[in-house]
Amino acid sequence: MLYALLCLLALAGAAAAAAAPNARPCASADSASAYPFCDASLSIPARARALVSLLTLDEKIAQLSNTAGGVPRLGVPPYQWWSESLHGLADNGPGVNFSSGPVRAATAFPQVILSTAAFNRSLWRAVAGAVATEALGMHSTGQAGLTYWAPNINIFRDPRWGRGQETSGEDPAVAAAYSLEYVKGFQGDYGEEGRIRLSACCKHYTAYDMEKWKGFSRYTFNAKVTAQDMEDTYQPPFKTCIQEARASCLMCAYNQVNDVPMCARKDLLQKTRDEWGFKGYITSDCDAVAIIHENQTYTTSDEDSIAIVLRAGMDLNCGSFLVRHTKSAIEKGKIQEQDIDRALFNLFSVQLRLGIFDKLNDNRLGPSNVCTAKHRELAAEAVRQGAVLLKNDNGFLPLKGSEVRHVAVIGPSANDAYAMGGDYTGVPCNTTTFFKGMQAYVAQTTFASGCKDVSCNSTDLFGEAIEAAKAADIVVVVAGLNLTEEREDFDRVSLLLPGKQMNLIQTVASVTKKPLVLVLLGGGPVDVSFAKHDPRIASILWLGYPGEVGGQVLPEILFGKYNPGEKAGYDLVP
Ligand SMILES: *[C@@H]1O[C@H](CO)[C@@H](O)[C@H](O)[C@H]1NC(C)=O
Ligand SMILES: *[C@@H]1O[C@H](CO)[C@@H](O)[C@H](O)[C@H]1NC(C)=O
Ligand SMILES: *[C@@H]1O[C@H](CO)[C@@H](O)[C@H](O)[C@H]1NC(C)=O
Ligand SMILES: *[C@@H]1O[C@H](CO)[C@@H](O)[C@H](O)[C@H]1NC(C)=O
Ligand SMILES: *[C@@H]1O[C@H](CO)[C@@H](O)[C@H](O)[C@H]1NC(C)=O
Ligand SMILES: *[C@@H]1O[C@H](CO)[C@@H](O)[C@H](O)[C@H]1NC(C)=O
Repeated sequence: MLYALLCLLALAGAAAAAAAPNARPCASADSASAYPFCDASLSIPARARALVSLLTLDEKIAQLSNTAGGVPRLGVPPYQWWSESLHGLADNGPGVNFSSGPVRAATAFPQVILSTAAFNRSLWRAVAGAVATEALGMHSTGQAGLTYWAPNINIFRDPRWGRGQETSGEDPAVAAAYSLEYVKGFQGDYGEEGRIRLSACCKHYTAYDMEKWKGFSRYTFNAKVTAQDMEDTYQPPFKTCIQEARASCLMCAYNQVNDVPMCARKDLLQKTRDEWGFKGYITSDCDAVAIIHENQTYTTSDEDSIAIVLRAGMDLNCGSFLVRHTKSAIEKGKIQEQDIDRALFNLFSVQLRLGIFDKLNDNRLGPSNVCTAKHRELAAEAVRQGAVLLKNDNGFLPLKGSEVRHVAVIGPSANDAYAMGGDYTGVPCNTTTFFKGMQAYVAQTTFASGCKDVSCNSTDLFGEAIEAAKAADIVVVVAGLNLTEEREDFDRVSLLLPGKQMNLIQTVASVTKKPLVLVLLGGGPVDVSFAKHDPRIASILWLGYPGEVGGQVLPEILFGKYNPGEKAGYDLVP
């Protein structure tokens, strides 16, 4: 009876420990003395090696997935390596969870292509620092991890690319500068033995800028890159991200480069350690190992795929492929246990540098550090600094507040909170759409969508837009792209505005009292030469994907509270 009761208590204790967010094996005095990996007087490499030496083969294999298994007998909790933070905390990875816990939203900063257009390194670093603060606040409640798979520092060379919006554009020097500011702002200052508060990841290594386009797919694409293009274009951001910014993670891409899958390119992966001094972990993109055999038929068996990536230097597999097939790779003699030990050493080293196993420090951040007024203002600042005025006939902007009584805001995205963030957006704190933001400025603001959605396949709703435009003093048409046109796993097929959007703009332009203002959304380039030459379109303002404060900032710009300047042809000194 007593024994049964004790067992029950022990079970209850174990359940409570498992449920506690961020359980820490080395937090108590007992465990710290019991295990060398908890001994803070040892170096981090010594602690990492000590932990590896305690594990059985099965326990080791369970560490090779982003959803890493725990080791209950040592008090090591399971860990989710995959959290996302491209331009704010995002729930694309399982590590960030907005639906359970006190934190229900996080600041949605503008998509990276817009912040980049500020050409302001202090701004980039400040935004990364704010995202890191929110990540730590959300981590404190167990709703987010400490390892993030951002920034995306690929070169936006192909204008069709659905993920170009996530990057800092086509210039390798700008992408390198952005990577430096993001990683330093996010990881924080290097402490003793390379301690960091959070881990950032340089992705996706390398020569990746296509998703899915007319039968081609990123999963099987073979990028042909000359040695010169490699050095001039694709390597610089990664070199800076590793060597100067000292990122603690690198992600290998799905695609092949010159006939070899990137996660199997031992030469390119090893180079980061041998020449750039990389000391972090290398993760695959999600399921990038499984496809090496199944889809690229580069190897002849799953076990061969595992051997080739572990020998190339990859440490972690996003997905469950290594968990499922590594045992058999060992049994078939394709790899040795020390190939796994090497990977685990890198993984545990990063966890130790993050202090994941150690006692919490007292001055940690919490939910009150997420969605702060300060972060909202920084997000607004990023939109103001990044906005680009492409056309402004006869100084049409700024508008004079005293002369504007009635504004019409027209376009399918003009009152759509879901069109503001671009991809890798989580749950924003409080989105202001363009319509709502304008209404706060000019009480008599009307809205008409003009098209059912951004694809704009019909003219059915044009009539309503025409009526709204006729009645207003000033007409603002919000046009451009959305994730329905460009996103992960989906490239564009045309550089023109989608569907009948051009038709909508021209129809509205023909009935307005004054020339209209065209606001363009999207990450990829859009050919609007028709608008450039049309005198009925006075001004064109590019706003990328402005995030949750876009609608607040638009009227500030239109009414001259903030002057976006003329950045076309701006000198690109970072
Ligand atoms: C968030 O966590 C809850 C509770 O653990 C779970 O039910 C839900 O599926 C998680 N959501 C996501 C998006 O992972
Ligand atoms: C760059 O951004 C920072 C942070 O928002 C700001 O304080 C600074 O004025 C900006 N610099 C320029 C040249 O606009
Ligand atoms: C890879 O091939 C498998 C098996 O044919 C298929 O089920 C899967 O959809 C393919 N994956 C990709 C990403 O193409
Ligand atoms: C959201 O922002 C609007 C201004 O755009 C403000 O009026 C409102 O109070 C805010 N709501 C919350 C819940 O913060
Ligand atoms: C924009 O894309 C999002 C995500 O696909 C979708 O939910 C939303 O309805 C789209 N908005 C418009 C106006 O097309
Ligand atoms: C709009 O038309 C295009 C081209 O005909 C088509 O690919 C797309 O699926 C349509 N979109 C919607 C939302 O109907």
